[in-house]
Order: sequence, then C-alpha cells, then structure tokens
Amino acid sequence: MATSPPQVSLDEIREEVADLETPEERIGYLIELGQTLPDLPVEYQTEIFRVLGCQSMVWVVPEMRGKQLYFRGTSDAPMVRGLVAILISAYSGRSSREILDFPIESLFEELRLKSFLTPMRSNGLYSMVQRIQAIARESLAASGEAPEVAVAIGKSGSDGPEFSVATCREDFPILAQCNSDDRPLIYLDNAASSQRPSSVIDCMSDVYRTHYANVHRSGHDLAISTTMAMEAARESLRRFIHASGTDEIIFTPGTTASINLVARSWGDANLQEGDEILLTELEHHSNIVPWQQLAARTGAVIRWLPVGDDFLLDMAALSKMLSDRTRLVSFSAVSNVLGTINPVREIVAAGHKVGARVLVDAAQAVPHGSVDAIDWDADWIVFSGHKMLGPTGIGVLYGKRSVLEAMPPFLGGGNMIKSVTKNGFESADLPHRFEAGTAPIVEAIAMKPAVEYLEGIGSHRILAHERELAQRAMDGLVKIPGLKILGPGIQAKTGIISFVVDSIHPDQIGQYLNAVGIAIRVGHHCAMPLHQRFGLPASARASFYLYNTLQEVDAFVDAVARSVRLGPGSRSA
Ligand SMILES: Cc1ncc(COP(=O)(O)O)c(C=O)c1O
Repeated sequence: MATSPPQVSLDEIREEVADLETPEERIGYLIELGQTLPDLPVEYQTEIFRVLGCQSMVWVVPEMRGKQLYFRGTSDAPMVRGLVAILISAYSGRSSREILDFPIESLFEELRLKSFLTPMRSNGLYSMVQRIQAIARESLAASGEAPEVAVAIGKSGSDGPEFSVATCREDFPILAQCNSDDRPLIYLDNAASSQRPSSVIDCMSDVYRTHYANVHRSGHDLAISTTMAMEAARESLRRFIHASGTDEIIFTPGTTASINLVARSWGDANLQEGDEILLTELEHHSNIVPWQQLAARTGAVIRWLPVGDDFLLDMAALSKMLSDRTRLVSFSAVSNVLGTINPVREIVAAGHKVGARVLVDAAQAVPHGSVDAIDWDADWIVFSGHKMLGPTGIGVLYGKRSVLEAMPPFLGGGNMIKSVTKNGFESADLPHRFEAGTAPIVEAIAMKPAVEYLEGIGSHRILAHERELAQRAMDGLVKIPGLKILGPGIQAKTGIISFVVDSIHPDQIGQYLNAVGIAIRVGHHCAMPLHQRFGLPASARASFYLYNTLQEVDAFVDAVARSVRLGPGSRSA
C-alpha cells in the first residue's frame, strides 16, 4: 500500500486552530481538515482495520517503512475524519517508541479539542489513539524490543530509585496513628484490604471538589473532563495488566461482581447439564459460590483440583481432571490464605487444550503488579481496587475482546445501549455494554494514581520486600511451640502467612494482637473448603505489604509468642 505523507502538517493545524474563536469555527475546521484526507480504498474498510469504541465507523491502516510507522484512515462522519487527520499528522512517520512517547494529551489541550467534543466523540478519539499505540506496541514487540517493563510475578518493574520503606510510609497517612493505649498501629491485614496513599485520597477529593459530573452523557465541560479522567484510568489499568485495548477493561464493583458477571452472562448462555467446571480447593468463596449457583441453574458439575500437603496445587492431577466435558476452569493466581503462587500459564494452557474457557481470580496477584494478560492468555482476569491501594467499590473484569463480544449483557439500563425502542434494545460496544448505570466514577478515576504508585515502585521490589518480611516472620513463628504455618516455602508464595496454634483458638490470638495495636485477620478468610481440606475451622493470618517494616514483623512475632505463652483465655495485653 502506498501511504501518503500527512496532508497537513501538525504545525499548520496548530496555526489554523489558534485563530479559531468559537466551537462552531473549530467544528467547521475539523470538517475541512477531514476533506484533505486521501480516500481510503474500500478493501481497507474492513473489520481488521476498524477502530472499536467510536460512535461512527473509523478505520486506521498502519504501514511500517523502515523503522517508521505510517497511517492512513478515514471515517464515515465528516468531523471524525478531521480527528483522524489530526492523529495521522501527529503520528505518521514516527518510530514506534516515538509514538508511545508522543504527548498526545498536550496536543489535545493545545488544540482545545476537549472544549467542544461530546463525550462519545471524545471516547472515540481516545479509542483511535489507543489503537495507534497498540499498533506501535505490537511493532516494538515484533522487533524484539520490550514495549514496556514485563510484570510477571517477581520479574521486573520500575528502574527508578531504590525503594525505601520509610519514605513509602510517609505516603500513607493512616499508618501514623496509635491505638487508645498509644501503641503505634501495625497493619497486617493487607490481603483483606490495603491502605491508600495520599495520591489516591487526594485524587478522590480533588474530583469531588473541582470536576465531578456524570460520565459518558452530557457535553458540558465538567462532564467531559470527568469522562476523560475515567477513561485515562481505564488506560492505566490496561497498561498495568498488558491488555491489548481499553475495550477489554470493564469497570465493575470488584472481584466478586466480576465473577458473578461472567457466571451470569457467559455461564447462563453456554453451560448445560453434565458440563464440568473445574475449581481448586484453595479458592475464595467469591470464586466458588457464583459457580455453585450457576451449576444449580444449569445442571453443570463442579470438580475440584486438590491442594497437596505441601500447600501447592496438585498439578499432576490437572490433566486427569480435565476432559472435553470441561467448559470452564476458574482459579486464583495467588491463594488468599496460603499465599501460594499458582502456575497460571500452565493451568490456562491446559484448560485451553481441552477447549475450556479460563478465568483467573487475580485479587491477590494484582497488588504485586503481577498480572500479565498477554503472558497468561486467560479468557478473563478479575481483580479489586481496594487490595491494590485503590478505593473500595471498584474493580476490573478483563476479558479477551472476542470473548467479551460474544457475551450477552448482564445488567440492563442506561449507558449499556446504543438504542432502545418499545420493542427492544441494541447493546453498546465494549466496554460500556457491561457497565450499566452510573459507574463508581470517582473510585474508577482514583485507580490511576493507585496503579501509578505501584508502577513507580515496581512489582519485583514489592514482592521482594514482602518476601523479606514473610521470611523473617516465618523464622520467628516456627520457634513458637505448637505453632503451624499453613503455606509453602517463601519462593512459592507472596507475603501472606496463615497459621494455627495447638490448643489456642485463632480468635484469641487476634484479640490479643489487637489489644497491642496489631491488626491481623482470624477466621476462615472466605475459604471454608480450604480450611476443611486441612481439618481446621479457622486460622490466623498476617499479610504484609509494601509499607510494612521488619520492626513491625518482630513486634508481631513477639506478640504471637506472648499470647501463646499466656495460653487460652489471654485476650488482653
Ligand atoms: C482470592 C480472592 N478472590 C476474591 C476476593 C473477593 O474480593 P472482593 O471482596 O473485593 O470482591 C478476595 C478478597 O479477599 C480474594 O482474596
């Protein structure tokens, strides 16, 4: 294909726009600009080159020449052709790396696009940008250059300055407090929910104070800036988990809601009597009950991949438990009780080999930045914001585009439709098809600073720090008579340590620790089948995170030892 150089240069566009006073003049100019685009031959106006997420039909066609990428494109809407022309002028003739580094937001600011584009047009524009960036990322990957840092568990992350836990703690205002006895708070319940840095708290307050409005609806300035902020958060999550497009990132209220969405939408449409669902014995109730409900509705059967006495999944049993009857495999990347890191890629590949769909519950993996949609190749990946420094009430359902597109909508209402008549409705495109009603807008927006905080430190550092803490805790705990740790060795786990002590109920340990300012969790941790597997009613769990210190670990071990020495009945310090 012979690609033409940009018809109008970026400088010419800048100059023209600078002289335009009113939104009407700018719209008129966009239409004129669109007319300068060469026609795109019809053979390129196909699904392969179509940009999803735009209100109108838009096609973008790339061509690599040497190290530079060139683009052609068009739209069936005259004004959108103008937007395509701007993007072609901005991006054509640059290397993939330059495209990814190009400050497109500043260009949009400079051209004052925000002030007159409707939210739908604005979304469409961002979909085009994302498409072009995805092409650039793919071409980098094809050339052997990593498009971004890999974030598989414990592998890599930020190359920034060394991580300092003391500096990190200053970012978390809640950690500075003491209990009623003036003892400093030691927060070791991070697997239940993490704390939030000031950047996340300030972001939420800032949105409410300065630019809050509903999203994807009105065309006024506030609504546009809130919509753009929410879409920017979606993009940061896409980048964080290496999804190929923002249309694959569905905002949900959390992991539980995401799994229920898949069970109701995909499950109800695809499962029938006799079909099999494979779970593992170490699942959280959120990854059990929705499938039990689905099985009750459809007659499907649940099978359980066992956990061995070594607290690892029995991988030798996997192939025997999978068959052509298996329609779904659903499992946690990391156990919320044992901390065990499961072999995600291997399980996903085995599930796919028998034709099953695979869902990965990444609620306990994502806090360490260790989710990689490309590497894992799962059909769905689900997680919650509140365990990864973000707000409560927000989470993600990632799905492969082709899988999500084949799923019927689950909740019906506003925002998830293209059109409604008295006779029915037409569903919106992804991701809105699964986002009925008003989203937790501010919570979604604040996922961006949460992701940026984790990226700033880097997954390898977070996991390494947690493991240092967990190893120190295990070294101390094993010396306590009658104490048993539930979980594998440090190389196979994150910073979660569950334990039981002969003759003392975990509840009592938890109450004693609380009295000395140490927050841990006791109970079944929403994993009753796992506790039943080990013949236990409950356990105590300390879960470490990036802001915990070795001193805190020592104080925790001392407090557990003291509570055990004091014996049954010791609830206060
Ligand atoms: C592994 C796992 N899955 C699912 C969940 C449920 O997450 P949420 O309550 O945020 O929906 C949790 C929460 O502890 C979890 O640890």
